Amino acid sequence: MANPDILFRGIPRRRTRGYTARVLAKVKPEVVVIPCAGSFSLAMVARSAGVPAENIVCGDISLYSTALGYALAGRDLALEPKGEIGTLVEPYLIDPVSKAAAVLFTLRLLQYRHRARTGKHHFVDHCRELTTNVETYVTELQVQIEAMCGQLNGIEYSACDMWKTLEDHRDNPDAVLLVNPPRYTGGYDKMFAGVEDVFDWPAPSVSQFVEGDYARLMELLGQSEALTLMYYATPHEDPTPLWGDPWRAVFADKPGNKRTAAINWIVANKSPIDHAIVRAQVGAW
Ligand SMILES: C[S@@+](CC[C@H](N)C(=O)[O-])C[C@H]1O[C@@H](n2cnc3c(N)ncnc32)[C@H](O)[C@@H]1O
Repeated sequence: MANPDILFRGIPRRRTRGYTARVLAKVKPEVVVIPCAGSFSLAMVARSAGVPAENIVCGDISLYSTALGYALAGRDLALEPKGEIGTLVEPYLIDPVSKAAAVLFTLRLLQYRHRARTGKHHFVDHCRELTTNVETYVTELQVQIEAMCGQLNGIEYSACDMWKTLEDHRDNPDAVLLVNPPRYTGGYDKMFAGVEDVFDWPAPSVSQFVEGDYARLMELLGQSEALTLMYYATPHEDPTPLWGDPWRAVFADKPGNKRTAAINWIVANKSPIDHAIVRAQVGAW
């Protein structure tokens, strides 16, 4: 049975989310800004730390996040279906939640089709299952999105370039910025490949963040008033010497003991609370 659960695999991982929640509960910011919202797991963390939904500002540029963000903000997204998959999901393009469910369903179907084409034959069956029982799966996704709305209803969301979101908030000393851009160049283009052939939508004409943008990002946020937590996974030790002052590592989690396993770092431009290492086998900072 194919399981279109694309939604709920958000990053960062549990321990990293836990540290973030402790920072937010201690700092009690006026606003939490998440310029690369992805699956909104950091927005959920902010809620769990007691931040009211209306004090959470999110942005992203993908249709995936935008369809979800509009559902959470209760806004209608203009979506024009095209082609064979567009025809399949058109009956579900009714309201913000069902539109988000149709987009998530489409992304899962596209991913399974890609896997089927690259020789993973059991995905042919998964695709058949999804298209035969489209109503069941879209309804399942709607239920999950509604549950998410229960927690995040009222956040602010815009399909907006992260650089603009950061410029709007980085000089607010009462803001906390949670910055989790793509770690690997091109990963999200690949993950969402083909969706533009299924839907026309008012996509922002903005480039994906790439590895080469880190220097500019860290320079900009290093000079900012807002407390910034930046999420950075690498198999290597403390990455902050790459960016210099004022950056410091405040959290590290190494899931598993494999030498090559990535360490999930949080680096910050100020020290919000005590630093923490979880299972990380790294040297002293
Ligand atoms: C690592 S994910 C964020 C995951 C997120 N923390 C979560 O809770 O799921 C990175 C996100 O950055 C977004 N992104 C890439 N370039 C962007 C840009 N220029 N402006 C805004 N978002 C961007 C991608 O679409 C993707 O959703």
